[in-house]
Amino acid sequence: MVGVFNLVDFVPFLGAFDLQGLKARTRILGEKLDKALKTIINDHQQQKQDDFISTMLTEQINPNGDIMDRNCIKAITVDMIVASLDTSTALLEWALLALIKHPRVMSKLQKELERIIRMRMVEENDLPKLEYLDTVVKETLRLYLVAPMLIPRESMEDIVIDGCYIPKRSRVIVNV
Ligand code: HEM
Repeated sequence: MVGVFNLVDFVPFLGAFDLQGLKARTRILGEKLDKALKTIINDHQQQKQDDFISTMLTEQINPNGDIMDRNCIKAITVDMIVASLDTSTALLEWALLALIKHPRVMSKLQKELERIIRMRMVEENDLPKLEYLDTVVKETLRLYLVAPMLIPRESMEDIVIDGCYIPKRSRVIVNV
C-alpha cells in the first residue's frame, strides 16, 4: 500500500470519496497488522525474550515518568519493520546485481571473505575487518539509491529557500 498510486496526492478534494478504495484496504490491512502485533506482544509478555519487543516492554516507563503504552510499542515495531526491511533487501539485490555484472569485483570480494571469514557466517564484529565489502556496499548505495527521497515533512511556517517560496503546511519531499 505504501507505494500505491494515490489520486488524492494530486487532487486532494477527492479524499472524501475514496474512489480507489485505498482507505478501506488500508483499514483492513491495519486491523490484520494490529491483530498480529497484539499476538506478538502478548507472547512476549508471557515469555520474556532477549529481543527488541521485550526490551520495550521492560523499559515502558522512562526516568521522566513517560509511559510507552502498547500502541506506542506497536507503532515503533511497525516503524522499524518498514524502515529496515525494504531498504536492506533492495540494497542486497542491487549489490548482487552489480557483483554479477562485475566478476572481477565479485572474485576480489570472495577472496576477502575466504581470507578473513573462511567457512562460517559473517558476524557484526567482523565488519571492521571487511574493508572491501564496505567499499562494495558504499559503491552500491552510490550507484543505486535505495532511498532517494527523505520521509515527507510538513513545513511549520512560510519560508523562502533558495528563492523558492514554500507556504506553511506544505508537504515537503526532500530529494537527497
Ligand atoms: C540500506 C539500508 C538503509 C537505508 C538506505 C536507509 C535510509 C533511510 C532514510 C533515507 C531514512 C529517512 C531519514 C529522514 O527522512 O530524515 C531512514 C529512516 C529510518 N530508518 Fe533507515 N535505512 C536503511 C536501513 C535501516 C535499518 C536496517 C533500520 C532498522 C533496523 C532502519 C531504521 C530507520 C528508522 C527507524 C528510520 C526513521 C523512520 C521514521 O522517522 O519514522 N533503517 N532510513
